[in-house]
Amino acid sequence: MELTNLILNNIPAGEVKTSFNKDSNDKKVYIETYGCQMNYSDTEIVLSVLSDFGYNETGDINDSDVILLNTCSIREHAEHKIYKRLDDLKKYKVRNPNLIIGILGCMAERLRDDLLEKRKIVDVIVGPDEYRKVPHLIDNAIETGEKGIAVKLSRVETYDDIAPLRREGVTAWISIMRGCDKFCTFCVVPFTRGRERSRNSANIVNEAKRLFDEGVKDIWLLGQNVNSYLYEDKDFSGLLKDVAVAVPKMRIRYTTSHPYDLSLKLLETMAEHKNICNYIHLPLQSGSDRVLKSMNRLYTVEQYMNVMKKSREMMPDIGLSTDIISCFPGETEEDHKMTLDVIREVRYDGAYTFVYSPRENTKAFFLKDEIDQDTKTRRLDEIITLQRKISVDINKELVGKTKSVLIESLSRKSDEFYMARTDCNKSVIIPIETGHVNESGVLKMKRTYKIGDMVNVRINKANSATLFGEAA
Ligand code: 5AD
Ligand code: SF4
Repeated sequence: MELTNLILNNIPAGEVKTSFNKDSNDKKVYIETYGCQMNYSDTEIVLSVLSDFGYNETGDINDSDVILLNTCSIREHAEHKIYKRLDDLKKYKVRNPNLIIGILGCMAERLRDDLLEKRKIVDVIVGPDEYRKVPHLIDNAIETGEKGIAVKLSRVETYDDIAPLRREGVTAWISIMRGCDKFCTFCVVPFTRGRERSRNSANIVNEAKRLFDEGVKDIWLLGQNVNSYLYEDKDFSGLLKDVAVAVPKMRIRYTTSHPYDLSLKLLETMAEHKNICNYIHLPLQSGSDRVLKSMNRLYTVEQYMNVMKKSREMMPDIGLSTDIISCFPGETEEDHKMTLDVIREVRYDGAYTFVYSPRENTKAFFLKDEIDQDTKTRRLDEIITLQRKISVDINKELVGKTKSVLIESLSRKSDEFYMARTDCNKSVIIPIETGHVNESGVLKMKRTYKIGDMVNVRINKANSATLFGEAA
């Protein structure tokens, strides 16, 4: 394999030609996705672009001509995982020297030079705004043996015209905006995914309608900061309302929100439309104003608490979850206790908790990180333990109650159970077969519902992450 870098950044998106055409190409692509929902949604875009050039997805890595990893850079650990996976992939390349290995996503953007120089098995590197070029870069690598790289960020690319290639299921993602302009001082996203841009609102509504016609029952509107969605004069609450009205039988959720941009109008829209789920994921990051300022989060704890209070007033059953970064540089014991206080006060249904991970290029990278490892482990543990206790308490309060759930899939742990979800985003495990006693007094097992059904379920058991129930 030659080491010439093929820089395709001067080819305008949409003008990329490839010598493979849909009918003559029989190449199989195996793709692994890491990181956030945005990445999973992007994988569907990449698969769609590839299928236009005749590439078919395979679930069998041993049978693939191309292996793609759609990567995440949010924390150091996420990147280590990819480097380790690349080491694993060497054996496939030894077995099949013609195999093409590609890195997509945030790591492609951030670590292109490192990947090219130090990971010789990587043939193709494509950043989040260059996915239209993936087929061409792969074709070129196959034909000439040259490496391909395309990592330019765009101010306009939203893949608005591309119909994502979805896997079967009753849940689907619709990406509504890309990028982020918030520049939280710890976060690499504005560097790896570039500036904010929003998709045409009419196209989003049409996509929701099409999905409903195809049998989808639950959609997630996705973006790095959906609350700053703006297309012409349509803001996020306007878009959400349009979608809710266009597909009144569809469950609608969204993520991720930034407290600074979450408007009263959005809460009103949520309260007004029954099919918009009663659930908000609102990252707090820290319960200390001093730390929030250093993180450039643009809100105070008081302002954040007001949003929480207002949401509960307007939607008493609302499910609330958050993200927390523990041990940001300079975080004192006092700051840490303030975070625990907010967790206690809000009583979140769940939280994603992380120890701060320094990321090159970000402002926080230059702050002194003087917190020792034992303290980091202890503080994170205190947050997790507290949140777990709250989640268990909240979930146990639901035992004996009846909830309406959407059956989404088979349970991951057993094919005798379904995984269903409440309006507030709690997963509920229910048996596939329900028993009924016939006229002769014999217990017969009968399947009464299927994936995609809305079912009333009586909750009979709960732990911190999952509810268990039976059809009511
Ligand atoms: N270190 C730790 N956690 C981070 N997050 C983002 N950047 C970092 C970082 N450098 C977390 C934030 C964000 C979530 C997606 O990931 O909590 O909300
Ligand atoms: Fe990162 Fe902050 Fe943007 Fe979220 S809002 S993606 S944490 S910069």
